[in-house]
Amino acid sequence: MSIELPDSAVSESAEPSSAPTRRTFIATTTVVGGVALAGGLVAVPPGLGADEAEAAEAPPGSRVSLTVNGVRRTITVDNRTSLLDLLREHLDLTGSKKGCNAGACGACTVLVDGRRVNSCLTLAVRLEGAEVTTIEGLEKGERLHPLQQAFIDQDAFQCGFCTPGQIVSGTACIQEGHTGSSEEIREWMSGNLCRCGCYVKIVRAVEQTARGK
Ligand code: FES
Ligand code: FES
Repeated sequence: MSIELPDSAVSESAEPSSAPTRRTFIATTTVVGGVALAGGLVAVPPGLGADEAEAAEAPPGSRVSLTVNGVRRTITVDNRTSLLDLLREHLDLTGSKKGCNAGACGACTVLVDGRRVNSCLTLAVRLEGAEVTTIEGLEKGERLHPLQQAFIDQDAFQCGFCTPGQIVSGTACIQEGHTGSSEEIREWMSGNLCRCGCYVKIVRAVEQTARGK
């Protein structure tokens, strides 16, 4: 019994040798594309000059005005910029640390309108009109914030990487009134990890500051 194949089922090998097959087409365009990229060649849409093409390729940006540590700032940023990157890379406020950059460690904790947030997960362009407080904004003139002093008194850090986030978070913990016991402090500070294991002394520092409030 003979079976007739539909045209679409004819294999590539059945095409005339001079016609480009799907395989040769893909191979050719891949090589050409790779060469173009390697040489820095980018296709400019018809009708656009080089400057316009560059502008068309630039990621979308927005202007945002916010108050950081009492100073009004207006800045244009890529819409994907996190608050953490805005602080560290645009405003030179490097006290807030980038640990995991994924909301898991708390090293980047800052206050936004008095509430603690992971700045690595917060889009800067959503903060129009917000009040942001970082570790740099806690001291008053030459005087440390009482919790900063308590961290020194209690020797509540080793490498110090987590410390800015711990202190900012601790100030909110005290303001929120979650300091009734060491267990309660632990619970409400549980978003801030310390790889050096200074938890006992961190809790003591928060307790010391809460008592003196
Ligand atoms: Fe933001 Fe770790 S850096 S939570
Ligand atoms: Fe080193 Fe906390 S003091 S991570």
